[in-house]
Amino acid sequence: MTRHVHHGLRLFPTRDEAAAQDFVSSLRNHVLNRMAASMRARFEAGVAPSLGEGADSRDVFEAMRPHPYFRFYTAVRVKAQEMVWASVRASVERERERLAGLFTELSAARPAGGSLTLDPALPIPENVAAIDVHLMPGSYHTDGGDGDLGAGALYENGLSVFSFGLMGETLDDIGRSIALWLSRRFPDLAPRAILDVGCAVGHQTLPWARAFPEAEVTGLDVSAPCLRYAHARAEALGVRAHFLQADARSVPLPDASQDLVFSSMFLHELPVADIRAVLREAWRLLKPDGLMLHYELPPNAVLSPYDGFYLDWDSHYNAEPFYQGYRDLVPLDEASAAGFERFFEAAIPSLGWYGEAAVGAAALTEGAAGSDRLGRLADGVTWYVWGGWKPA
Ligand SMILES: C[S@@+](CC[C@H](N)C(=O)[O-])C[C@H]1O[C@@H](n2cnc3c(N)ncnc32)[C@H](O)[C@@H]1O
Repeated sequence: MTRHVHHGLRLFPTRDEAAAQDFVSSLRNHVLNRMAASMRARFEAGVAPSLGEGADSRDVFEAMRPHPYFRFYTAVRVKAQEMVWASVRASVERERERLAGLFTELSAARPAGGSLTLDPALPIPENVAAIDVHLMPGSYHTDGGDGDLGAGALYENGLSVFSFGLMGETLDDIGRSIALWLSRRFPDLAPRAILDVGCAVGHQTLPWARAFPEAEVTGLDVSAPCLRYAHARAEALGVRAHFLQADARSVPLPDASQDLVFSSMFLHELPVADIRAVLREAWRLLKPDGLMLHYELPPNAVLSPYDGFYLDWDSHYNAEPFYQGYRDLVPLDEASAAGFERFFEAAIPSLGWYGEAAVGAAALTEGAAGSDRLGRLADGVTWYVWGGWKPA
């Protein structure tokens, strides 16, 4: 079922709209669980035996492409994705002015003491502007002008429907789980400045401010409407955080100003050259002995050919053209090339699903990433992270 947004920026869908949202959530749950399991069984019984030794995820894709069940799965999943946005769009449009009013009030009062800095001259990069990323109408950046929160509201309400409860009450399970894991894994860590790049509406930004109340926490993104929403949302939730409109490849903050540079679900939306620029920029921004940490899709290198094929679906059908290229990279090599050392990766159990004890236990366990333990492929919910330290 949809976990509807319930903080100060909540929308008020009609009963028909709420019913449509619940239906779409259930449909996505069905496609990603029951249909995905059926497709895998069909692959194993009917397609795998004809693949030669050494077949990779691209070979699996070519073999599965004409398969009637894959085509059925794809048709339903694309339709479900379009319906995610369609199910929330009318209420976002209807409530645009009310949201703009809330933004004006909250950004004037700033009850949590956060801030918003926009740069109207910032060029929007092509990876955002040239496509409707994951079929979201208008992508992240389309801006109706002063006080417009539309793209942010569309993203947050759509994500609530899309994730059918997997991401926690306030869609922040990733950030909460990772912040807890990090504080258990590295108990001496006491970051004073934390930067979340590609923060969208700040879902995974605020858990850092809650976990490390002494730190100045900044969320950075290119999208003004997402950042306005992020700022108003943080203030409505009573969490102090700063939001900055900037490009993660070239951030207007001083060298060696951050203790932790984090991202979540961000790198896979960038072309490889931009990913490398972001990693170099993280290195510049970090203090010596600072930590870079990314929550991401698992790389191809740790996946079976079928699992790689399964994740590549979004590259082909969901307007996520950089998914596959990102997952072809080897995080250790990329981190090393950007100057980081003491690389690590981990599969972190979801706090919401497994509780604090499980996250704490995982923090004390070496090693990470068998494909059976990762993210959407796991039997349950885990978050794959990788990171490295700037030399002291
Ligand atoms: C999938 S969203 C990230 C969601 C968020 N981090 C979370 O976990 O909830 C990707 C975000 O990256 C932003 N983005 C894309 N390219 C960027 C760039 N070069 N610099 C900064 N932000 C960028 C988009 O505007 C979008 O908000």
